[in-house]
Amino acid sequence: MSGHDLAATAQAIVAPGKGILAADESTGTIEKRFAGIKVGNTEENRRAYRDLLFGAKGLAQHISGVILYDETIRQKSANGTPFVELLARNGILPGIKVDTGAKDLALCPDEKVTEGLDNLGKRCAEYVKMGAKFAKWRAVITIGAEMPSSTCIAANAHALGRYAAICQAAGLVPIVEPEVLMDGEHTVERCEEVTEWTLNAVYEALYLNRVTLERSVLKPSMVIAGKNCARQAGVEEVAERTVRILKRTVPAAVAGIVFLSGGQSDEVATAHLNAMNQMFKDRLPWPLSFSYGRALQQPALKAWKGAAANVAAAQAALLHRARMNGLACLGRYSVDQEKQALAA
Ligand code: 13P
Repeated sequence: MSGHDLAATAQAIVAPGKGILAADESTGTIEKRFAGIKVGNTEENRRAYRDLLFGAKGLAQHISGVILYDETIRQKSANGTPFVELLARNGILPGIKVDTGAKDLALCPDEKVTEGLDNLGKRCAEYVKMGAKFAKWRAVITIGAEMPSSTCIAANAHALGRYAAICQAAGLVPIVEPEVLMDGEHTVERCEEVTEWTLNAVYEALYLNRVTLERSVLKPSMVIAGKNCARQAGVEEVAERTVRILKRTVPAAVAGIVFLSGGQSDEVATAHLNAMNQMFKDRLPWPLSFSYGRALQQPALKAWKGAAANVAAAQAALLHRARMNGLACLGRYSVDQEKQALAA
């Protein structure tokens, strides 16, 4: 794929009012989600669940792309259509998680480094052949007493730089995801400091690895207090702090920014995104959108409970969250709209 096409794909990911559905949970992670609704983690249940998500009629109205897992990109809808084809036919870009997970970082207790660079070029080439248009790699930064270490920041930034370069060479738009975890007691101020440090290191690594920023998308966490911190920042404070740090660290050439939800409740994740777009309307160099996993899927999972009879209700729940987040991309979301939709 030419560079121009990659830039066009990156822009399509952040088209106005649209964002990404992250459905790339590894087999281990989806087990946790299924355990919450008492559904067995079998290949058929995983297939049926993804079939429900991708088959929701009208999904493309607010969803530009879906991130798949290696197993999922090889699976088919109940009627035999490969998922990649189903998505593409509906105007949704298929994406693929290409990292192989966050592993213990040697000599840095409790810290992780994301692996998956071995054979990455070859794997990307296979995914491109299968129809993937973009990729994702998630790095994890933990905040704690002596954490993060500069070792952890440097190792993860380096891996993100190498990954992004390999993707662009193979013809995939890299979604660059450095997640500062919300686990812990840290303050919002500490999260802000660590996020700024992390993003500076990431963009230095992308430059060093010759990554073309116009052909890339950033997927950051928001600047929020640790979930066990006594003082939780309000919606406007989160929006202000997050945008301040992004403006300091993310070059204007980046095609767009899509947030992860990271364990925030679905409505809070939507409210934060909306506040940023409302407060900074027309004053930012990049579109701000979403690439939510849990915050898009949680209500659908709960409605589904593994029963075929609940598929329509689960799809309605997904479409509702997609619509609310689509509005948040435009700064047009309100709690009233949530209530109206629930009452309807
Ligand atoms: P969450 O929105 O649940 O954090 O998932 C997004 C994602 O893709 C994490 O890598």
